[in-house]
Amino acid sequence: MNREAPVTAEMQSFMLQILDTITEGVLALDATHAITYANRAACYLLGYGADELITQNLHTCLQARRRDGSPYPAAESPFAWLARGGAFCFIEDVFWHKDGHALDVELTANPLPAQGGAIVIFRDIAERKGSQAALLKAFQDLDALNLRLDKAHGQLLQNEKLASVGQLAAGMAHEINNPIGFVSSNLSSLEKHVHALLRLIEHYEALEQDGSIPAERLAPLALLKQSIDYAYLRDDVQDLLSESRQGVERVRKIVKSLKDFSREGNEYQWSEIDLHHCLESTLDVLSREFSGRCELQRDYGDIPGVFCLASEINQVLMSVLLNAAQAIADRGRITLRTKRDGEFVVIEIQDTGCGIAADNMPHIFDPFFTTRPVGAGSGLGLSVAYGTVQRHGGDIKIDSAPGAGTTVRIILPIKPRHPPHTGEGAP
Ligand SMILES: Nc1ncnc2c1ncn2[C@@H]1O[C@H](COP(=O)(O)OP(=O)(O)OP(=O)(O)O)[C@@H](O)[C@H]1O
Ligand SMILES: [Mg+2]
Repeated sequence: MNREAPVTAEMQSFMLQILDTITEGVLALDATHAITYANRAACYLLGYGADELITQNLHTCLQARRRDGSPYPAAESPFAWLARGGAFCFIEDVFWHKDGHALDVELTANPLPAQGGAIVIFRDIAERKGSQAALLKAFQDLDALNLRLDKAHGQLLQNEKLASVGQLAAGMAHEINNPIGFVSSNLSSLEKHVHALLRLIEHYEALEQDGSIPAERLAPLALLKQSIDYAYLRDDVQDLLSESRQGVERVRKIVKSLKDFSREGNEYQWSEIDLHHCLESTLDVLSREFSGRCELQRDYGDIPGVFCLASEINQVLMSVLLNAAQAIADRGRITLRTKRDGEFVVIEIQDTGCGIAADNMPHIFDPFFTTRPVGAGSGLGLSVAYGTVQRHGGDIKIDSAPGAGTTVRIILPIKPRHPPHTGEGAP
């Protein structure tokens, strides 16, 4: 088109028709930002008639407030930039509709240096904004789901690990149970026999002393006693027997832990128990471990009875309390706290002991993981406790740092939804 050619009335009407056909709003402004033209889309999007818009100041009419309703000073609006001769493209902003609702718009504005005004083109982006918000929400939901999946995956791995070790443990417990049974029973008979023999020997010794046996016959006996170191033998045989009994008892305990761990041979019943009572009776059993070394502090809250397998939960408390006592080398404090948290009860056992090294933290629930000297710990305490609490629908959480003590939180549902064993008495 020849730029010098005059604009005829025909051409002007043709261009206005084009402007009224496009779906973007078009506004023309004069140098004071008063609206001099509004196309059909602009009127439709803003809810005004063209005659209502024309002569209105764009800022006062359409942008006097921000989206939150607070005042939007003209100097801060993108149109202040126009007054300084600048142009802007694709700015997201808000125009206020005639009926009072905020309209999200994308703006393009270009100054008209010759006339001293500007052309503003805008489009409604509410739908796009809505989709963006929905997308963001979907992303956030996905993120949260991912997190839950990660957690569930970790849980599954832990359960799988526990299940396979559980099978192994059940097999081992079964294999060890029989031999340990007859060793234990033979040991009892042996103890009785040895005591009987020692009594017999005592009678012979009495005869030696009262002169009933001639001296020449006593000489070889005295020689024999000396060569076998009879006095030492008599004391040692009793020590050996008592140590063997302790050893067998220890193996029995390990086998029982293995059985608990593998959930075999569980004939326990579900019942509502008082956890304070459980804590106190466990403390009684452990009094030897605590005596003189561990100061006990109780901060018991108001908690309801909890449906559980009492003997299993006692075992959990025992393991955690024993660990706390063992973590205190010289003197220290163990604090017991209980509280209700919605549908759960939380038992917190905090010790001022040695704490757990960061490297060991990921392994403390692993079966057979122990930092105790060989023979002193089986490393089953926490793994059995974890399995038990998980089967009750609860959780165990541990906070610890070397030198800063350890806090174990045992979280139990007041009424578990999926009882681990569905025997009589299950809730
Ligand atoms: N309260 C605690 N303070 C410091 N370390 C702890 C504590 N509780 C557990 N641990 C660490 O976790 C390890 C595993 O504990 P767990 O109770 O499973 O086995 P254990 O005590 O070694 O042996 P077991 O309980 O079978 O006799 C312990 O060896 C110890 O290193
Ligand atoms: Mg332990």
